[in-house]
Amino acid sequence: MDAELYRRTADIAAEYLRSLPERPVRAEASLEELRRALHVPLDDAPLPARQVIEELAAAADPGLVGTQSPRYFGFVIGGSLDAAIAADWLTSVWDQNGGGYPAGPSASVAEEVACEWLLDLLGLPEDAGVGLTTGCQMAHFTCLAAARHRTLADAGWDVEQDGLFGAPAIRVVVGAKAHTTVFAALRMLGLGSRRVELVPADDQGAMNVAELERMLHAGGGPAIVIAQVGEVNTGAMDAMPAITRLARTHGAWCHVDGAFGLWAAASPALRELVDGVAGADSWATDAHKLLNVPYDSGVAIVRDRAAHAAAMNSFAGAEYIPEPEHDERYQAEWVPEFSRRARGIAVYAAIRELGRSGVAELVERCCANARLMADALRGEDGVTVLNDVVFNQVLVRFGANGANVTDRVVDAVQREGTCWMSGTQWDGEPAMRISVCNWRTSADDIRRSAQAILAQARVTVG
Ligand SMILES: Cc1ncc(COP(=O)(O)O)c(C=O)c1O
Repeated sequence: MDAELYRRTADIAAEYLRSLPERPVRAEASLEELRRALHVPLDDAPLPARQVIEELAAAADPGLVGTQSPRYFGFVIGGSLDAAIAADWLTSVWDQNGGGYPAGPSASVAEEVACEWLLDLLGLPEDAGVGLTTGCQMAHFTCLAAARHRTLADAGWDVEQDGLFGAPAIRVVVGAKAHTTVFAALRMLGLGSRRVELVPADDQGAMNVAELERMLHAGGGPAIVIAQVGEVNTGAMDAMPAITRLARTHGAWCHVDGAFGLWAAASPALRELVDGVAGADSWATDAHKLLNVPYDSGVAIVRDRAAHAAAMNSFAGAEYIPEPEHDERYQAEWVPEFSRRARGIAVYAAIRELGRSGVAELVERCCANARLMADALRGEDGVTVLNDVVFNQVLVRFGANGANVTDRVVDAVQREGTCWMSGTQWDGEPAMRISVCNWRTSADDIRRSAQAILAQARVTVG
């Protein structure tokens, strides 16, 4: 064992984190440069581990986007808390198979505790099933597999045994602004993405509840309604009290995409944004967004534990796996994977580092910084904030006299390097998305970033 290798790696990591406030947020190297640097010949002979790591770090460094930078606002990418990063290192060193208790008792119990804390923080039923997935897409997959199980079981069909051929049709009713990963999960589950019924959205992207009501009245049979708290561009929240009531009235399973928006529930100040969300049947969220756990870390929560376990059920027929004797956690019973990373350890560390009030403060600070950014941009000539900044997302358009120059502004800001954010389409036209998700971001970082954006906008808008 080369202890010096681990010390050297820790130094490289600490130096990277230390450099974040100063280094350009963009990646510096081009694709060709990265291929040249990393695409070395595959040697016949082994290399010393330290050489591998030093050369890898040097070659990769110019191609790293500073997603951990306090001025990174791209996609919806959370920062990483110190304890969560360090716990993630230990997860690799311990290398426990996170599939079940017999392969790693501490990993299993840490995950059990982390899941209990997640339910507590999010205000969800304490006896719900919880699975820690790679991300929200697989959390959707897990929750919707449970929904598929229960809706078909209630219709007298055993989908796990008999598959979908000949099964009663399940209606899937989805908000028009649902995230792309919802449709991916539906495709993987054989529920199809083209056959879903889309409920129109309002101008912020929230589901039109009157339309949902009309659509549910218009048909019957097994049904799944998929709502969303936190639209990926605007942060808009669906009206959960009405949606869960309608789903219940029509005997439909209600699933919620709360990839980042569900974290409003962890803050007493923001909780009313997701009022009624606890009345749903399943919830998909991420720990690698607002909770600031390193990738990959998603969470699938299902009220109906039996449906959840039946839909995953990894151990059926595995005679070589000992049966649980004392209700110990077999993580694979709650997620699609069998063997997996013991990802509960980093979630455990993140929640402990923050504590209940720290989680609330982190979510509130991200939202306050999003409002600060909107206020700093709004009012400048040629700058329009398109959304009601209800949460941590800001949607902006640049241009005067009917011209939309947003794509050019996004490009110029990314190249300038003070901060980084990405573009999108809203109402069929380009817009800039600013997502505030990092514990490191201060009000000063927001002011500095807004100035950098406005400087590029002035040049571009003219
Ligand atoms: C609303 C919403 N749902 C789902 C996802 C997908 O999350 P993941 O990348 O963890 O699968 C995202 C990602 O940004 C999102 O914003």
